[in-house]
Amino acid sequence: MTFSFLMAIPTSMAKASPSFVCQKCGAAYNRWQGKCESCGEWNTLVEEAGDSGVPVSIRAKRRGRPFKLESLAGKSVDAPRLPSGMAELDRVTGGGFVRGSVLLVGGDPGIGKSTLLTQATSLMARSGHRAVYISGEEAVAQVRLRAERLGLAAAPVELAAETSVEDIIATLSEGATPRLIVIDSIQTMWTDTVESAPGTVTQVRASAQALIRFAKKSGAAIILVGHVTKDGQIAGPRVVEHMVDAVLSFEGEGSQQFRILRAVKNRFGPTDEIGVFEMTGLGLREVANPSELFLSERDLGSPGTAVFAGIEGTRPVLVELQALVAPTTLGTPRRAVVGWDSARLSMVLAVLEAHCGVKLSGYDVYFNVAGGLRINEPAADLAAAAALVSSLANSPLPTDAVYFGEISLSGAVRPVAQTAARLKEAAKLGFARAILPETARGDAPSDAGLSLQTVGGLTSLVADIAARGTPRPAGRDNAPAEKNATPARFRRNEG
Ligand code: TYD
Ligand code: MG
Repeated sequence: MTFSFLMAIPTSMAKASPSFVCQKCGAAYNRWQGKCESCGEWNTLVEEAGDSGVPVSIRAKRRGRPFKLESLAGKSVDAPRLPSGMAELDRVTGGGFVRGSVLLVGGDPGIGKSTLLTQATSLMARSGHRAVYISGEEAVAQVRLRAERLGLAAAPVELAAETSVEDIIATLSEGATPRLIVIDSIQTMWTDTVESAPGTVTQVRASAQALIRFAKKSGAAIILVGHVTKDGQIAGPRVVEHMVDAVLSFEGEGSQQFRILRAVKNRFGPTDEIGVFEMTGLGLREVANPSELFLSERDLGSPGTAVFAGIEGTRPVLVELQALVAPTTLGTPRRAVVGWDSARLSMVLAVLEAHCGVKLSGYDVYFNVAGGLRINEPAADLAAAAALVSSLANSPLPTDAVYFGEISLSGAVRPVAQTAARLKEAAKLGFARAILPETARGDAPSDAGLSLQTVGGLTSLVADIAARGTPRPAGRDNAPAEKNATPARFRRNEG
């Protein structure tokens, strides 16, 4: 009896042994090493007080407490979802904020996370729900200033500049349960239960854990803002991504006004929907028809651009694909892609080379999706191939045409889903013809309002485009120097 008591003392009272935690993936080691074996990253191990996130004093004393098990068929207290009032945000979350859920919003600094969430909390507060905005990065005055700029200063949002998780939970436990709580950002939060410095993986994880527990217990929806590192991951809290119910990523080109909100993970909704916003002097404006926005700055009549009729989630989106094929001066030609999968580009280039006699080994290839959109659909293959051949052959594509279709390794053009929706959107935006897979004609409505031009194989498309063009000078040395200059947008993507 006494013996077992004595045995318990050393573990509970001894100082926790130091542990080295990878700041990227959260793997723990008991001594320092240069490389994290779990994620392969170098110099990411930082010494943190080894801990499980539960205070030692509690861990030693606490015994299990029996709890009541519930049935699946219980009655839910309130409407489980509450729409934010921003249609684009609701589209991405799957219809609004779920009670007791925790959402992580990641994005580059300055992309507009605080702006988006200030707008969302204000709308929520205006419609009579208790909404709280806790800023760990900015002073109350700064947050107010932003709200004033957005014309939302009068909204009854409850505001604080706080970083202690315990204080925040104690404050929010009083009074009516808030319907929405924004924590901006999770990296600035700290909890007493662990000794590590704020911003370390251990702190971020423990703080997130405490807030998630609070959300589940109280039924409040919590939005955590997370920073993104230079390689695009949510800094530190990779681990947090697994703990929260949904991860949204807010993306965009700094120089452009478009912002795209995308669900990376969503336990309560789809992950293929995007929300499109435009950053204006008065905050984020929702863009209900993204095609108009993505096509607003088209370079009409220049070779190397094709309009792709795509589908994002449930919504058709027309977007311009741009290709530049220019003679290379390098031994290994450059392939740079923004907004599309580089493996997919390589595949299309290989098919063009193998089946259509398009020799691209002496050319640099730059490929870009306009407007900062990221395309994941194989349906973009045909439009991409058209843009590439158009650039190589110096042959502008018809400006009133949209393209879609998947290219197989054999060079055949395969049908894709939702032909009717794609055609309808194109007709709505004033396009007159669609270039689509032969087999897709059956899916097209008879009153599509477009002339349909089907292609069975890539070869005929290539021949058609090439016949109208004036090829650029081939070879490595006779190209003007600026043809080889890397366009600014691609520079940061170079290895
Ligand atoms: P912010 O929401 O602070 O970004 P984050 O929280 O993601 O770091 O937004 C910062 C940028 O947005 C800043 O460069 C200014 C710009 N902005 C506007 O263009 N219009 C506006 O109405 C607001 C509030 C910000
Ligand atoms: Mg911010």
